[in-house]
Amino acid sequence: MPMTLIPVNEPLISGNAAKYVAECVESGWVSSEGRFIGEFEEAWASFCGGKAGVAVNSGTAALEIAVAALEMEPGSEVILPSYTIISCAMAVIAGGGVPVLVDCESDTWCMDVNAVAEKITPRTRAIMPVHIFGHPVDMDPLMGLAEKHGLAVIEDAAEAHGAEYRGKRVGAIGDLGCFSFYANKIVTSGEGGMVVARDETYGKRLAYLRNMCFHTDRRFRHTELGRNFRMTNLQAAIGLSQVEAVESHIEKKRWLAAAYGERLGDEPRLALPVERGWAKNVYWMYGVVLDDVVPFEAEEFARRVAAEGIDTRPFFLGMHEQPVLRDRGLFAGESYPVTERIARRGLYLPSGLTLTGEQIDRVCEAVQTVLDGA
Ligand SMILES: Cc1ncc(COP(=O)(O)O)c(C=O)c1O
Repeated sequence: MPMTLIPVNEPLISGNAAKYVAECVESGWVSSEGRFIGEFEEAWASFCGGKAGVAVNSGTAALEIAVAALEMEPGSEVILPSYTIISCAMAVIAGGGVPVLVDCESDTWCMDVNAVAEKITPRTRAIMPVHIFGHPVDMDPLMGLAEKHGLAVIEDAAEAHGAEYRGKRVGAIGDLGCFSFYANKIVTSGEGGMVVARDETYGKRLAYLRNMCFHTDRRFRHTELGRNFRMTNLQAAIGLSQVEAVESHIEKKRWLAAAYGERLGDEPRLALPVERGWAKNVYWMYGVVLDDVVPFEAEEFARRVAAEGIDTRPFFLGMHEQPVLRDRGLFAGESYPVTERIARRGLYLPSGLTLTGEQIDRVCEAVQTVLDGA
């Protein structure tokens, strides 16, 4: 009998999703106009505690218009973690800026906020904390630095829907918060993203940037180069149905993390996700990092658990190790040891919203078999 693979993620599309999508199809509102876009934006911004939401077609697009909304001088610097997805650096570069890196913490895998102050220069314009794998960044010290130096804060909350920092949901703590609604996210719209604005300052400009910088006085006359990053009503229909289910999705993720914790908590050869006293971790993905006693890296570990029918994903590769960024002359001679270590020794286990207790048992048995065979 061929072994069934336990996938690293499976979305849970339920509730009103089919009904809302059918309404789009039957009414013909399938492009970027229609009731679901505004309703999704409002529901998500309000869930996050923000004043406005601007839906776009990916998390990467959300980051790009968030940076563009700052209207930075060319060569402005944005401080971000070395351990993140390349979308963050791409957005800064697209906005005419220069990404400046700090390392991450070895347990939360989030940016080391104590390393930020020494990277601030007269050219620094913004800080971009990234809430990694569902754990929030320690925001207070960052907000303090931002206020002191007059910097904007753009949160990348793509992986941290509903995560809390000192009782406040992420995404509306900084000036702008960016979300992804890709199919593996806690709330999905298939593909999609949103920028949430903490106050009224940026809402209109973000909507203008998303939609090709159209003016209202004379259509097809443009004074700036925009982008078509519009979300469709069909995507927003799914997105809205997912917001209605978000609390239960978060509960499931926390249940899943507790279940993994119970089974793997005594295993000294793995570092498991943590939750700081001030944090609510939503455990978007259950990451593990191999201890140095394990004689191979995450890539080999992944191959061995795959042979046991378990799908995994590697951790990000640091921004300073990205050929495409180094080829642009960025980060020459820079080293971020924590990022380098977790990039080689970290991977995440199946973490989908449909995962069962029996499947978690199977994953943990496979993990144990591979560790014992090492
Ligand atoms: C931290 C982070 N930021 C941004 C993105 C980009 O989102 P998208 O894939 O929707 O463009 C992702 C994607 O997973 C992410 O993990």
